[in-house]
Amino acid sequence: MGELFENILSSDESIFLNPQFLDFDYQPKLVPFRESQQKYIATCIKPLLQRRNGKNIIILGKPGVGKTVSLRHVLNELKEEYSNEVYCLYINCWKRDTSFKIISEICQQINYKWTHNKNFDELMNSASEIINEKSAVIILDEADKLQDHNIIYNILEDFHRRCIILITNDNDFVAKVDDRIRSRLIPDLIEFKPYNYDETESILKQRTEYAFVPDVLEKEAFDSIIKKTFACQDIRAGLFLFKQSGEIAENNSSRKINLEYVRQAIVSLDIADLNTDKDTEAIINIIKENSGKTKGEIFKIYESNEGKSYRTFQRKLKELEDKKIISLKDEIYESGKRTIVNYAE
Ligand SMILES: Nc1ncnc2c1ncn2[C@@H]1O[C@H](COP(=O)(O)OP(=O)(O)O)[C@@H](O)[C@H]1O
Ligand SMILES: [Mg+2]
Repeated sequence: MGELFENILSSDESIFLNPQFLDFDYQPKLVPFRESQQKYIATCIKPLLQRRNGKNIIILGKPGVGKTVSLRHVLNELKEEYSNEVYCLYINCWKRDTSFKIISEICQQINYKWTHNKNFDELMNSASEIINEKSAVIILDEADKLQDHNIIYNILEDFHRRCIILITNDNDFVAKVDDRIRSRLIPDLIEFKPYNYDETESILKQRTEYAFVPDVLEKEAFDSIIKKTFACQDIRAGLFLFKQSGEIAENNSSRKINLEYVRQAIVSLDIADLNTDKDTEAIINIIKENSGKTKGEIFKIYESNEGKSYRTFQRKLKELEDKKIISLKDEIYESGKRTIVNYAE
């Protein structure tokens, strides 16, 4: 190939190898730089394995400092070794924000199916009977999103051998639970501080190595993203910037991510809310309102509203399909093939 066109991406190429490694909820095999916290948490859980009660914990720290990923790692390790002795329960309270929704989710996770038409107390009783044959670790992530704290009180009262782990970015959370709960919870507090520069770089370097085709990132572009992420003290900012600048590069048919694309990505980071992915949200809304239409029709609406490329659109659809938020079905019609997009709910 001639030099003139060397850095031009052809239409069937991508600079992404595995973009899912840049997802906020991707779970890496190991969680470096949080080893001491993970060890400490393990010592709080260990009594459960000796048929004693565990220690309760409150995990504090700003968004994007590795709280969720570390706790999920501890829970996965526990599950691998001790699922016969301990129920390993993880619940996100942003998604399930009432005591009733949480006990329903606990029932589902312990495989108790007779939940239909039952009220909170009935579900709590059934779950306790099952859980008290073993012991349980119950992680309530984003606990500050809970609308009521009854579930915490009930777990403390009714589950005999358990370890409750509450994760929050609200430093005043302890002050907000009432005395009745505080006097029973007596939690250990563990704070997750933001990562330093080298840690930030190391975490993100690994993710980009999996996510991109080798040598796509120019050095200044990479360094600029690390600097910005360190300033934000939120790893998610880096993941967002790598994905966004990659998409900008592709929209420009470029094989390289350069400093200019990073600058543009930083502009959209500054207006984005990392707690929601605006692009994906826009696509979901369009599909919700146009469920059953073809992929081409959905893309036309997306393109006219959001002005984004087909490549980005394709990738988002694939992600949504993987997460079972939508379903894609190929069908033959007249002279060709088309894909029908359905909202799955
Ligand atoms: N030590 C680490 N190693 C690898 N990835 C990490 C690490 N810490 C954070 N991350 C990644 O950064 C993102 C934010 O971490 P997360 O645990 O969701 O933060 P928090 O729960 O504190 O808001 C996730 O994608 C996570 O995989
Ligand atoms: Mg989290």
